[in-house]
Amino acid sequence: MTINIIKCSLEDSRKLQEISYETFNDTFRHQNSPENMNAYLERAFNLEQLEKELSNISSQFFFVYFNHEVAGYLKVNTNDAQTEEMGDESLEIERIYIKNKFQKHGLGKYLLNKAMEIAMDRNKMKIWLGVWEKNENAIAFYKKMGFVQTGAHSFYMGDEEQIDFIMTKTLI
Ligand SMILES: CC(C)(COP(=O)(O)OP(=O)(O)OC[C@H]1O[C@@H](n2cnc3c(N)ncnc32)[C@H](O)[C@@H]1OP(=O)(O)O)[C@@H](O)C(=O)NCCC(=O)NCCS
Repeated sequence: MTINIIKCSLEDSRKLQEISYETFNDTFRHQNSPENMNAYLERAFNLEQLEKELSNISSQFFFVYFNHEVAGYLKVNTNDAQTEEMGDESLEIERIYIKNKFQKHGLGKYLLNKAMEIAMDRNKMKIWLGVWEKNENAIAFYKKMGFVQTGAHSFYMGDEEQIDFIMTKTLI
């Protein structure tokens, strides 16, 4: 069994689009209307949008490979790329997704540790993320990893306003 984390480059946009669609769909389709899901998928994961994000020097994407197959991905933001004004001493995990068949094998933790490593290398004081209040699986995972709820913000799935909990882990 081999696990590798590889940083994505601009050339990976299609591969990133594929895994983004698949994992977002698998995670949220059963709790949302097809219209709202499709609107979100089109807006968030069209190639132009992903290429813009891949080109942002304050964002980084990583694939995690399990035995040479892409099993999941991570997106982290610093500085102005963060989706909330959290300041330069914070790092945001904007996306962390493991494909269904690879979940519960330690890969989410592996990606989360990668985000922590980046945050510590850059002397960040905390790491934070937004998670849908109904995403109980992810909330339990983050709690297990030492995150605590520190706030909430709105997130739009198509035209539906949803509440995301903001969860934070202090690093020092
Ligand atoms: C949430 C997610 C990233 C977790 O990744 P994962 O690979 O399944 O989790 P891991 O196997 O790395 O689990 C790490 C630890 O968390 C624990 N854990 C994971 N899910 C848990 C849950 N639902 N309840 C309690 N503990 C959980 C594991 O038992 C493990 O504990 P250990 O370190 O003592 O062994 C993954 O399930 C996922 O991609 N879900 C769908 C997408 C999603 O919701 N992403 C987050 C959007 S905000």
